[in-house]
Amino acid sequence: MKTRHIAPILLACLLGSAPMKAQNYDETKVPLYTLPDLLTAEDGTPVTTARQWKKQQRPHLLELLATHGYGHTPTQKTDVTHEVVYENKQALGGRATQQQVRFTFSGEGKTIQALLLVYYPNERKGKVPVFICYNFKGNHSTSTDENILYSPYFEQLPNRQDPILVRGNQTSRWSIPLIIERGYAVATMCYHDIYPDHKDGESQSVLTLFPKDTYGKPDSWQALGAWAWGSSRIADWIERQPWADKKKLAVMGHSRQGKAALWAGAQDERFQVVISNNSGCGGAALSRREFGETVAKINSSFPHWFCRNFSSYGKRVNDLPFDQHTLLAMMAPRHVYVASAKEDTWADPRGEFLATFQLGPVYELFGMKGLPSPIMPDIHRPVMTDAGYHIRAGKHDVTEYDWARYMDFCDKVFGR
Ligand code: GCU
Repeated sequence: MKTRHIAPILLACLLGSAPMKAQNYDETKVPLYTLPDLLTAEDGTPVTTARQWKKQQRPHLLELLATHGYGHTPTQKTDVTHEVVYENKQALGGRATQQQVRFTFSGEGKTIQALLLVYYPNERKGKVPVFICYNFKGNHSTSTDENILYSPYFEQLPNRQDPILVRGNQTSRWSIPLIIERGYAVATMCYHDIYPDHKDGESQSVLTLFPKDTYGKPDSWQALGAWAWGSSRIADWIERQPWADKKKLAVMGHSRQGKAALWAGAQDERFQVVISNNSGCGGAALSRREFGETVAKINSSFPHWFCRNFSSYGKRVNDLPFDQHTLLAMMAPRHVYVASAKEDTWADPRGEFLATFQLGPVYELFGMKGLPSPIMPDIHRPVMTDAGYHIRAGKHDVTEYDWARYMDFCDKVFGR
């Protein structure tokens, strides 16, 4: 018995690293922690007005999030061209128009292509709100429609029999008929097209379209920064479409894409509603709780997601100058919705809820209302004020239940 335990420790010592602590799933073992106060300025003075928040506190906190968490996004612009390569005005039995748009990004003598898949309702009174969200497994995974082109990342796979190329293998995560029925549009792109999600993905990512000194440093962007940047490039195109209401843009992401959606919303104030679906560690869940996935764990598994500085906080999470409530607060006075799943303990549902609750005082500066109670609601009892939260039954996933709640919330925010 003993050797089983000793072997990994010996191995870790030989390799020069200490073994990682097991993940905690016991609420009674959550350490005591103090969250950084969102309404105390750097010099210790209280932040009491919306103006102070906007002019000083928000920019200061955003800078902390970039330097110690997500990395700085370069300010340079890349060239982007768009070409509608496919259009079907009679999609979904005539209820929607489907477009597929090729984005070509260029810079530093290189180009990278991505494909956006868009559905918007044919029956509309005026312009429509739009959900912008990445897919994990290619545009072809969202529906069995044979006309959907393979996303560039998947198009290049040498084995055409690869099960990943099966159409509609993630249809259940994309409630496209319901989205159209409720009068919304949806635009999705494969996140691998922007930054292939593996630790050697950088060389094929959009980072390489920018000058060399904008990446590779401890505080520069990596994959999450790139995905967030890509959401903004999608918004650039959407804003120019005659059917799209550019004042009603929502960015939604699941899991690692929930983290990216929150970072996109923090930086790009065109997103009026920012939705995190089961985003967990480095997304909506409070890091200081160290429940489920931890800062140490996420950086060791996914060294290419956050900026390198973030990994230095693995063993000293209380030294982080922010926690995830800081990220959520970047949306004020816009709207944030966080969703958890009961069985998704890895993502720490309670930590996701508590971070959302912490938004309250910042919203109050703007005369807005955060979540009404620090007591977590029961499953399937969504709470919607100027912020939203729900926990549903089941696992780590995106379901029709989640989509329906996001649209209830957007209806409320957009006065529909
Ligand atoms: C892993 C990872 C999470 C992430 C999730 C996902 O479980 O540890 O941080 O959110 O993958 O993206 O599905």
